[in-house]
Amino acid sequence: ARLVVLVSGSGSNLQALLDASADPAYGARVVAVGADRDGIAGLDRAAAAGVPTFVDVVRSYPTRERWDAALTAHVAEHKPDLVISAGFLKLVGAEFLAAFGDRYINTHNSLLPAFPGMHGPRDALAYGVRLAGATLFFVDAGVDTGPIIAQVAVPVLPDDTEDTLTERIKEAERRQLVESVGRLVREGWTITGRRVMIP
Ligand code: GRF
Repeated sequence: ARLVVLVSGSGSNLQALLDASADPAYGARVVAVGADRDGIAGLDRAAAAGVPTFVDVVRSYPTRERWDAALTAHVAEHKPDLVISAGFLKLVGAEFLAAFGDRYINTHNSLLPAFPGMHGPRDALAYGVRLAGATLFFVDAGVDTGPIIAQVAVPVLPDDTEDTLTERIKEAERRQLVESVGRLVREGWTITGRRVMIP
């Protein structure tokens, strides 16, 4: 199966997918990496793995819709079976969702529906929850609201800082991403209400 991965930052989730795809038995490989900005480690990781990249910067398009159309076209060129937002910090638009909404997934660093948005670990710490984690879900038109594929929980420890909690979540998040993407592409999926069932 063909994976296109979208990134905006360090790309450690991308790296986990690149490493997993080295084994043909995994059943999926990263065929392209897209970004909304230049100069990020995620693009370097793709280049180091010999994977083609593209960059669509919002402000180089006259409107948000034109950016969305360009991103949609660039992703479509690589004929993905699954498109993965892995730390991609942009909300896609209607055209992208019309093209890929049945195959566009995102990994978020909280146990949704708690703590959507940019600061999952910080918000979890501030609230005082004892369990934090990561959620993999199909993207819909909302912010961190689509049907859930998988969740993993990690403890919040008494002396946690935002950094230590973020790292603990990210370790679990990477394992979950690799395992769930493998199952999705090998076994397929159906969406029932808010849940994604893997046969
Ligand atoms: C992930 O924890 C993701 O949930 C959050 O940003 C992080 C991306 O990390 N939105 P990386 O770029 O994959 O290292």
